[in-house]
Amino acid sequence: MRHLMNPMDFSVEELDRLFDLAADIEKHPEAYAHKCEGKKLATCFYEPSTRTRLSFESAMLNLGGSVIGFSDAGSSSASKGESVSDTIRVISCFADICAMRHPKEGAPMVAASRSSIPVINAGDGGHQHPTQTLTDLLTIRSLKGRLDHFTIGLCGDLKFGRTVHSLVNALSRYEGIHFVFISPEELRIPGYLRETLWSKALSFEEVIRLEDVMPKLDLLYMTRVQRERFFNEEDYVRLKDFYVLTKAKMERAREDMLVLHPLPRVNEISVEVDDDPRAVYFKQVRYGVYVRMALILTLLELV
Ligand code: NCD
Repeated sequence: MRHLMNPMDFSVEELDRLFDLAADIEKHPEAYAHKCEGKKLATCFYEPSTRTRLSFESAMLNLGGSVIGFSDAGSSSASKGESVSDTIRVISCFADICAMRHPKEGAPMVAASRSSIPVINAGDGGHQHPTQTLTDLLTIRSLKGRLDHFTIGLCGDLKFGRTVHSLVNALSRYEGIHFVFISPEELRIPGYLRETLWSKALSFEEVIRLEDVMPKLDLLYMTRVQRERFFNEEDYVRLKDFYVLTKAKMERAREDMLVLHPLPRVNEISVEVDDDPRAVYFKQVRYGVYVRMALILTLLELV
């Protein structure tokens, strides 16, 4: 039995197979409509979510399965003091697979160690968000035809943004990737990630101004400042509008550059950019459903 805690849990070859499956699901959804009949997905969300939870639920429903779960820790027994380990042992009696989001780093890993069903990390604190990374990679692969030889800018809250940490890990295994980290001084990538990049001799730079690097990017991954992970509101207010991607800034970008964003967007991409064909963050949401369908089938060993 396999779990998914980190995008690195899958080899590059396994990811390729997963993305091929997702691409086939996109083309022939009817062929997969009954694959999970009789199976249940539990969504255990101890932190807010719109896309991740609903895309997991849509994925399971599209496969003919059903869904149980909670979307708020306050409505679960966590509010009575139940541990994640106990909760997953209980959930294992009800469901065949579980997607868990938790504010504490490592909580889904603890759950996985006690679970008798596959557990998927749907975001743990400021740590990892592997299924968003699968979504991001599938989007890039589908729209660009490859996952190597890119200059990718990651902009915004690189310190607390778990989607950034997972994506950088995952992309670091492909050839010819150059990372441009664009953040204010206070929100730079965590030291451990910088160390990993150094130790693998990967190519990266850290800059503050988005405008200056815009012309050289093949991909721009925008992120929101993660208010819920700040220790004080003043720092958040000072940093929240540090970057706003506008039409004027997009004029400096290549004609085939793609703008991705895990969403939710707050203010970091002006709505005027939404109509630009290079803005693919809403398309990305669709890929998130296909890739989660492929993931559920893979972890349930139904392919
Ligand atoms: C992200 C998350 O939860 O980390 N959202 C998502 O799942 N698409 C990004 C964010 O909240 O900023």
